[in-house]
Amino acid sequence: MVVLISGTGSNMAALVDAAEDPAYGVDVVAVGSDRRGTRGVELAEKAGVPTFVVPFRDYSDRAEWDTAMADRISEYAPDLVVSAGFMRLLGPAVLGRHTAVNIHPALLPSFPGAHAVRDALAHGVRVTGTTIHFLDEGVDSGPIIDQVAVPVEDGDDESSLHERIKAVERRMLVDTVGRLAREGWTVDGRHVRFGRTEHSVTDATDTKEQR
Ligand code: GAR
Repeated sequence: MVVLISGTGSNMAALVDAAEDPAYGVDVVAVGSDRRGTRGVELAEKAGVPTFVVPFRDYSDRAEWDTAMADRISEYAPDLVVSAGFMRLLGPAVLGRHTAVNIHPALLPSFPGAHAVRDALAHGVRVTGTTIHFLDEGVDSGPIIDQVAVPVEDGDDESSLHERIKAVERRMLVDTVGRLAREGWTVDGRHVRFGRTEHSVTDATDTKEQR
């Protein structure tokens, strides 16, 4: 798989660590970013994983950037793209060529978008969490694969809550991506199941998500 990041890369680093065990069933073939000089890319380089950067600001529009990103990802021919703290929407060029999953720090469909932890706190929820889902062209709107709840504690601020969510995310991401790789998956409308089945995929656009 190719892992995409925009910043710290702690979720990516958890995947790279897990992939060191051959029994995990996943190779991280590259780490890509939309930003230069991120801690995540530095960590990947130190771990010996090939990296690439396709800076958004180097392109005149979103479509050009999306095509450049799709081309770089395709060089590694991944079976799966994992968006792990990647803060840009991927477009039709990437999503037309690659199956991608995303990790999001809220219980979708609540609090989509770039400020999920802040928005959940501002709303006063007592429980939030994290979601891993297949990417479609909407904002955090694709079929949900797994979710884990995280309670909000009195006195939490955005940073303390996000750190607790990230600790849960790392375990869920490693577990879910490993299962996708080892067991395969079937997407039936909005419903995702692990395992390869003969079940027909109802939405024709989901065909590439059946492995
Ligand atoms: C994670 O909490 C991830 O869910 C979130 O960014 C963080 C990245 O942390 N992603 C989004 O908010 C996407 N909308 P990391 O760089 O330490 O893995």
